[in-house]
Amino acid sequence: MSDTIVKTTDLSVAFKVKKDLVPAVRQVSLSLEKGRTLVILGESGSGKSTYMKALLRILPHDAAIDGAAEFMGEDLLLKNEKEMRELRGDRISMIYQDSLSALDPMYKVGDQVIETIRAHRKSVSRAEAREQAEQLFVKVGIPSPRERMRTYPHELSGGMRQRAVIAMSLCCSPYLLLADEPTTALDVTIQKQILNLFLELQEKDGMSIMMVTHDIGVAAQVADEIAIMYGGIIMEYGSTREVLEEPANPYTRALIAALPKSGDRGRLVAIDGQPPTIVSMPSGCPFSDRCAYATQICKSSIPHLTPVTQTHQTACHLYERKEE
Ligand SMILES: Nc1ncnc2c1ncn2[C@@H]1O[C@H](COP(=O)(O)OP(=O)(O)OP(=O)(O)O)[C@@H](O)[C@H]1O
Ligand SMILES: [Mg+2]
Repeated sequence: MSDTIVKTTDLSVAFKVKKDLVPAVRQVSLSLEKGRTLVILGESGSGKSTYMKALLRILPHDAAIDGAAEFMGEDLLLKNEKEMRELRGDRISMIYQDSLSALDPMYKVGDQVIETIRAHRKSVSRAEAREQAEQLFVKVGIPSPRERMRTYPHELSGGMRQRAVIAMSLCCSPYLLLADEPTTALDVTIQKQILNLFLELQEKDGMSIMMVTHDIGVAAQVADEIAIMYGGIIMEYGSTREVLEEPANPYTRALIAALPKSGDRGRLVAIDGQPPTIVSMPSGCPFSDRCAYATQICKSSIPHLTPVTQTHQTACHLYERKEE
């Protein structure tokens, strides 16, 4: 059996804006193998969260999804809502970008994890679920787990709350963890601890991770493969080493050049100009209006991913022409 956990082929999402359907994710073809980490890296508004939400089918009802999305060989786009509900939080788990909203302020964090376990594992007793929840708290590095389980979300520090959210996302031992900016709100030390925790869990359980970030430092730390997303398309895709050390796309090069030279935070700072919004998208390459190398074709036609090596692709008209 193939070890491909996720595979999308030309996956597209369009949102209803006034009366028009406006594309936010355009023909994205990516795949993720068992036990590996794919990081989707890109500036704000590039479509990263929308792509992940399309996989879990948690987009607004009037969003149009096109193309194909497979999870462990099953067609996600053919599943009905009941089948999707069974998958969510179970074989596929997601840490949302606004993850604090994943916790209900009215309930103790331990009870929330216990209830999530019980919702998916009907045969597990409350006592067993409590035991499992405590073990999860230990696993994610929450000290004094028994006491912490009895606290309300607002009583925990940001780092501890995020760990509780992660514990909840792991409670059904997912095959696939979708993590949307899981460490953005945290300081660097806690961020490192949580990323190390992901790697540890992955080594132990063979979990696959798809993570979204706009932080190159985070991507470099955890990714096996990186997909650079901009204006709803994948600009560059390949092994972490090739994408970060031998970038073939002017956009990736601009992102890397924009990194602050000192400090290890790795935040993206300004590339000249603003990323487009879905209603202000250039008609050709989404980067064409900010790209120093753009020519006429870049302004009129969208580039497609072409191979650089067997494990590296770029979507750039300049690259395509160089190859001719
Ligand atoms: N429900 C919606 N209706 C209309 N447009 C939307 C909707 N959700 C997202 N968009 C638009 O789709 C584009 C992609 O949004 P998305 O949230 O996927 O970006 P992102 O890469 O996750 O950005 P960020 O880094 O800021 O989280 C943006 O232009 C956004 O404004
Ligand atoms: Mg997002």
